[in-house]
Amino acid sequence: MKKTLLILSVLAVNLYSFGQSSVALIVDAGASKYTISRHIYGHFSEHLGRCIYDGYWVKESMPVPKQYRIRLDIVEALKKIQIPNLRWPGGCFADEYHWRDGIGPGNQRPTMINTNWGNVTEDNSFGTHEFLELCDLLKTEPFIVGNVGSGTIEEMSRWIEYLNYDGISPMTNLRKQNGREKPWGVSFWGIGNENWGCGGSMTPEYYATQFRQYSTFAKNYPGTSLRKIACGASGTNYQWTEVLMQALTGGSGRVNMWGMDLHYYTRPPRGKLGQGSATNFTEATYFTIMQTALRMDEIIKGHDAIMTRYDSLKRVALVVGEWGIWTDPEPGTNPRFLYQQNSLRDALIAGSTLNIFNNHCDRVKMAQLAQTINVLQALILTEGPKMILTPTYYVFDMYKVHQDARMLPVTFTSPDYVLGDEKLPALNISASQDSLGVVHITLVNIDPNKSITLSTTFNQVKWATVTGEVLTSPNITDINTFDKPGIVKIVKFDGAKKQGDLLNVVLPSKSVVLLSIK
Ligand code: AHR
Repeated sequence: MKKTLLILSVLAVNLYSFGQSSVALIVDAGASKYTISRHIYGHFSEHLGRCIYDGYWVKESMPVPKQYRIRLDIVEALKKIQIPNLRWPGGCFADEYHWRDGIGPGNQRPTMINTNWGNVTEDNSFGTHEFLELCDLLKTEPFIVGNVGSGTIEEMSRWIEYLNYDGISPMTNLRKQNGREKPWGVSFWGIGNENWGCGGSMTPEYYATQFRQYSTFAKNYPGTSLRKIACGASGTNYQWTEVLMQALTGGSGRVNMWGMDLHYYTRPPRGKLGQGSATNFTEATYFTIMQTALRMDEIIKGHDAIMTRYDSLKRVALVVGEWGIWTDPEPGTNPRFLYQQNSLRDALIAGSTLNIFNNHCDRVKMAQLAQTINVLQALILTEGPKMILTPTYYVFDMYKVHQDARMLPVTFTSPDYVLGDEKLPALNISASQDSLGVVHITLVNIDPNKSITLSTTFNQVKWATVTGEVLTSPNITDINTFDKPGIVKIVKFDGAKKQGDLLNVVLPSKSVVLLSIK
């Protein structure tokens, strides 16, 4: 090992002296301690804009394959990337949702106003049964967020009984009456959403008390233990985490909290006209946005440090229940529907963020990108019966190999991506080894102008071949459209070569690469 590292350093120095930047990467299977939970690769679908209605759930007249009103072309696309969980019904919508309005015969369900998202009329045609049917079709685990902001403890506790109890009870009877014999066994359970904001404008102290009370009556029924998820902080609000950890995990006051749900979006700088466009942005804007996106690493470290003071064994999960880029809505669309296009830039954000999550998998055990279809950083965009896969979709397709694999620590020094007087790390990487022994490395080069040369050594990995895939395009602004759906997509990667024990890689500018090493 020492000898190989010495050769590698000499090689790196030589490459530098020829004026070509080279990075010495070490992938260390000997230091592997943690598993990357598949739940890091989760998604979020809210009753917002065209995510549920005119997304998954379409009119009977829509000329696409359907089961009931669920679009099966969307189901097939999402199954391909193996989505492990789906968070629903919100978002802000969760804290004004009353589940009893969304069960029973469709024509008898009351309507409501979706006050957060454009005051549109919610007809409640997509409710508990429809969501869980969708999860069955997707072969994914549901993560339901209960209403704390405007609901009651009784309402939440009856919902759990309706979902999870198999014995004789009023809620079991009601469920059966509505056509479902067996309970579903929903385990991921959110106690409110953003209760510091749209979920009730609560202080952390008040929310901690609410959590204690609501979670006391959120019962485990035979066969299903709830994994209760508290509302976590917004971005760098470390005080929220401190107060909750102290109130909920300390000594005799300890309650069952499986995770804390942090939300962090990559928002373009506010107030600067023209910087928020999803498709029309300069390199300067790109730089600022990447800077914001990469802060996810520092934010996770900040919350983890606080959590570790109360929970050194890392039993409480840091869930990142909402993340992604939030741009201006597409011109001409309802601004409260949050419909945005999705460019190569967004794929670079997705790849970088998932690398960050993988590398923090000791604490980050679940995450959800916002939001699956037609909202924010979507995987899929639809227009009537047409559907396109976004650059972000392809990142999840490439990264699915990390799900439930052993994380392999990586060591390297990133070259700088320099713009004017500022710089950012151009390169981010994560690696894992799956149950068959295959090592997967995902690499992102955010520099839009320069490729990166890497020379890789492995510790405790025997390998003979390397194959790869790459996602890139001539411009960071490139998008897939309904007319040209195949502009940004995965292609075979030929830039990785085995030379002796070394794996040499030339990583194109603005690219996401997956390497499979056997
Ligand atoms: O994802 C859109 C909104 O962003 C969610 O409803 C809310 O939780 C967050 O502020």
